[in-house]
Amino acid sequence: MQRAHFNGATAVVTGAASGIGRSLAAELVDRGATVLVADIDGDVAEATAVDLQRRADTGARAHGSALPATVDVTDAGALSQSVGRFAAEHGGLDFMFNNAGIAVGGEVSDLSLAHWRRVVDVNLMSVIHGVAAAYPLMIEQGRGHIVNTASLSGLVPSPLLVPYSTTKHAVVGLSIGLRVEAADHGVRVSVVCPGVIETPLLDKGNPGDLPPAASMPDIRDMLTQLIGTPYPAAALARDVLDRVALNRPIIVAPRRAKAVWAAYRLAPGLLIDQSPRRIRSITARRAADH
Ligand SMILES: NC(=O)c1ccc[n+]([C@@H]2O[C@H](COP(=O)([O-])OP(=O)(O)OC[C@H]3O[C@@H](n4cnc5c(N)ncnc54)[C@H](O)[C@@H]3O)[C@@H](O)[C@H]2O)c1
Repeated sequence: MQRAHFNGATAVVTGAASGIGRSLAAELVDRGATVLVADIDGDVAEATAVDLQRRADTGARAHGSALPATVDVTDAGALSQSVGRFAAEHGGLDFMFNNAGIAVGGEVSDLSLAHWRRVVDVNLMSVIHGVAAAYPLMIEQGRGHIVNTASLSGLVPSPLLVPYSTTKHAVVGLSIGLRVEAADHGVRVSVVCPGVIETPLLDKGNPGDLPPAASMPDIRDMLTQLIGTPYPAAALARDVLDRVALNRPIIVAPRRAKAVWAAYRLAPGLLIDQSPRRIRSITARRAADH
């Protein structure tokens, strides 16, 4: 039933050239959707779409299709144009996955306004741009589903990733509030809050053109210690689409991430009070490694 939900649907996925976005696009194509593989890295978006299309053409099951688009999600006009053209050429827009994002972290005392502006632009304004592009179309259609990728960091305290976590809390707030308004228009909104997922993001660090922040943690190492071994992106994509089909409002996966969120809701003070000790041990280890 959850697979059939996407058969014949149209979907835009941003940040679809890598990691979670790529896996979402692959799973959507596998379930029969026509997918716009949108990414700032146009060459990789193109290669991804070609690869997904080849898999669809040679697969055993009935499959959808993949088309590439070079889009910088911080450019509202470019995103809106791309989404509008795709919807016009494919008979509407059923799903908008606002997924593109970057990690920006380090101790706040080490960071400049440039760090904050970048992460707000790429992680938050991008989602607002995606909503601005898709929501009016969906209202006009009287149907559609906006799915925003936030993070477990959007639900619980995330020291050393405060700028990132700030944007992800905002994406959660945007999504759950909009969900209530959008219901009156027949439009659905969900927010995805993944734990630690095996993608290139875990090894990227802060964008290279920003001033270096010595306290930026090794994200893979820190999150593995705090939450556990990274979960495969393909498995996450299956979990997410199954729950999108059920119109779940807040999609937290994998199970370990759900447990952390549950513990935080049960005793927020405990998690906050424990954090300084755990973070001190992580930063001390990092200092010793250097
Ligand atoms: N990997 C994790 O553990 C994890 C956990 C929780 C949430 N997330 C979130 O999942 C989303 C995807 O992350 P990922 O782990 O797959 O990372 P990734 O680095 O593998 O992929 C991110 C993709 O976004 C694209 N992108 C970056 N800036 C862009 C822009 N301005 N315009 C268009 N595309 C842009 C990149 O080119 C890349 O292809 C992000 O929003 C991230 O915050 C990731």
